[in-house]
Amino acid sequence: MAILKIARMGHPVLRHKADPVADPTAPEVRQLVADMVDTMEDAGGTGLAAPQVHISARVVVYKVSATRLEEGEEEVPLTALVNPVLTPVDREKIHGWEGCLSVPGLTGLVPRHRAVRLQAITPEGEMIDRTVTGFHARVLQHEIDHLDGKLYPQRMDDLSLLLFQEEMRFGIPERARDLMESESIEVDDAQDVETV
Ligand code: NI
Repeated sequence: MAILKIARMGHPVLRHKADPVADPTAPEVRQLVADMVDTMEDAGGTGLAAPQVHISARVVVYKVSATRLEEGEEEVPLTALVNPVLTPVDREKIHGWEGCLSVPGLTGLVPRHRAVRLQAITPEGEMIDRTVTGFHARVLQHEIDHLDGKLYPQRMDDLSLLLFQEEMRFGIPERARDLMESESIEVDDAQDVETV
């Protein structure tokens, strides 16, 4: 077990496009995945990309817990993806709160594609090609942005909705409430933000 150091916003590794992995089933990839899972769980996150642990490789780990599911969606067990590629299924975007282990303490309301096609390979050599929606699609867009040198604030369309998570105790901003209601997203005053 190894807990790796997490890079924070401003570190150059988070700005660079990560390198493709030549051999997704190599033992080094499995070791990296095991260390990333340990690091993610230790930090209380639900997703992590290799650049966040100072490694420029196109590898992500994540899970989607039952508490985050919308109707008709399935729980996603702990998953590792190598060289993942996302393609938006349609143009529709919806807003949702995101937090990031590399931007500690903050949360922001971020527009993301509602549905994306995921193509990737696992460290076990399994090919994945499927459409994902909802929070699953959001986590993937967040993680794959890490592989392309982008952090979620760069995806925000209104920086007044970038907050310290602790200050959410005063309620979410009216503007966020209006936006979410206009997109038929359930507004929960005790927004608990997953960190990915
Ligand atoms: Ni992140």
